[in-house]
Amino acid sequence: MLWENSSLHFSGFLVLTCRKRRGFAMLLLMKVLVIGNGGREHAIIWKLAQDRCTPELFCAPGNAGTATLATNLPIAAEDIPALVTWAKINRPDLTVVGPEAPLCAGLTDALEAEGLRVFGPCRAAAALEGSKAFSKEVMDAAGVPTARFHTYTDSAKAIAGLEEFGLPVVIKADGLAAGKGVIIAKTRKEAESALHDILDKRRFGQAGTEVVVESFLEGEEASVFALCDGEHVVLLPAAQDHKRIFDNDEGPNTGGMGAYTPAPVATHEVMLFTKEKIVLPVLQELKRRGIVYRGVLFCGLMIRGKDVQVLEFNCRFGDPETEVVLPSIASDLVPIFSACVDGTLHDELVQLRTESATTIVMAAPGYPGSYPKGLEISGVTEAEAAGCHVFHAGTALRDGRVVTAGGRVLTVTAFGKDLREAVTKAYEGVNQIHFEGAHYRHDIAAKAFKYL
Ligand code: AMP
Ligand code: GLY
Repeated sequence: MLWENSSLHFSGFLVLTCRKRRGFAMLLLMKVLVIGNGGREHAIIWKLAQDRCTPELFCAPGNAGTATLATNLPIAAEDIPALVTWAKINRPDLTVVGPEAPLCAGLTDALEAEGLRVFGPCRAAAALEGSKAFSKEVMDAAGVPTARFHTYTDSAKAIAGLEEFGLPVVIKADGLAAGKGVIIAKTRKEAESALHDILDKRRFGQAGTEVVVESFLEGEEASVFALCDGEHVVLLPAAQDHKRIFDNDEGPNTGGMGAYTPAPVATHEVMLFTKEKIVLPVLQELKRRGIVYRGVLFCGLMIRGKDVQVLEFNCRFGDPETEVVLPSIASDLVPIFSACVDGTLHDELVQLRTESATTIVMAAPGYPGSYPKGLEISGVTEAEAAGCHVFHAGTALRDGRVVTAGGRVLTVTAFGKDLREAVTKAYEGVNQIHFEGAHYRHDIAAKAFKYL
């Protein structure tokens, strides 16, 4: 298709005329802004780029991967005034917010105040992730199954309250703590020192003015993304993350080292329960308080047979789960996100592929501790030639070359007719890619095989 150079801006849309074989056709090019710079945002951009409406894509700030499909903007994801200024001038038709920090800080509210459309909850709704005490209180009011809990602002009271819980006991800083705010204390001494650290020594700063103390749940975890338009809910296929750095779930926690979907632990019954007894009651409880949840509600579940408990809610897509779940959607993404914004969400909008998907995170040496940056990456083209999708997580362009710029560097996704094939193909892709000291887990999705 040849583009004529007669383009003009018209009420927020870029109107282009394009020459088809016979005559001319009008095409409306939508502008979509994606906020964030991880593998999740690359996957969102990659999927949006395949939409039939061929949106014009922007990413703030993006990475070397998003730069191949979108215009990267040099604006940090947390810089709300600068994002609003850019959006006021450039009028994106839709903004998709990836990370929790800007959502919890009210980016959606600020953009909506300018008459702009945003996929991602307003600040009051994002508090389901931004405040664990609020989230537990909403779950309690909505009758949603979750670990028994108490909240405290005073360490002496919290320590006295430990009597009510067995061991291990789970202690959570209330606010956002970059995934580090949950302590699973195996002894009373560990629990007491965690409470002192959070409430008295302010280890997590303002995020730790309150704590949630809750009972320890056993089972298998799964991540379920619920698309929400305030009223209606469509669940995407369940995924499973791998949080520990080493095989067999050993070593320290990370942002997530790999994922696969669908996760067989989340049976049809579990998914039905999640929609009817978890997500819909939460939306109704929020609505009762005058809060409308639009966007994706990430349900972190603990599953034991038919028993489903909510570990946490997040107000955004998970990373790296997004790198398997979004590619599993066969339908266009703009109509789905738009329906969430407009209150017109329904099941038929979301058609799924039938294959399984796996993604492997390749990390920088030293991660999740300190790690070097600027290591040159090679082999991405070869991995893609082998049928993988390589999403950039922590990368940057330096003198035209792609280098590492974060702890989680790349996520390598592959599809297969079944999970085993998806896993084999993803590791074939990983084997093509090189950077100094690259490491990854070798057992992604292994937990699923006992069900198959
Ligand atoms: P959260 O940020 O609340 O999801 O907690 C992070 C991780 O801590 C979860 O993914 C679980 O592995 C673990 N966790 C949180 N709450 C509990 C709980 N009540 N029982 C057992 N594990 C938990
Ligand atoms: N993969 C877990 C998260 O995004 O929080």
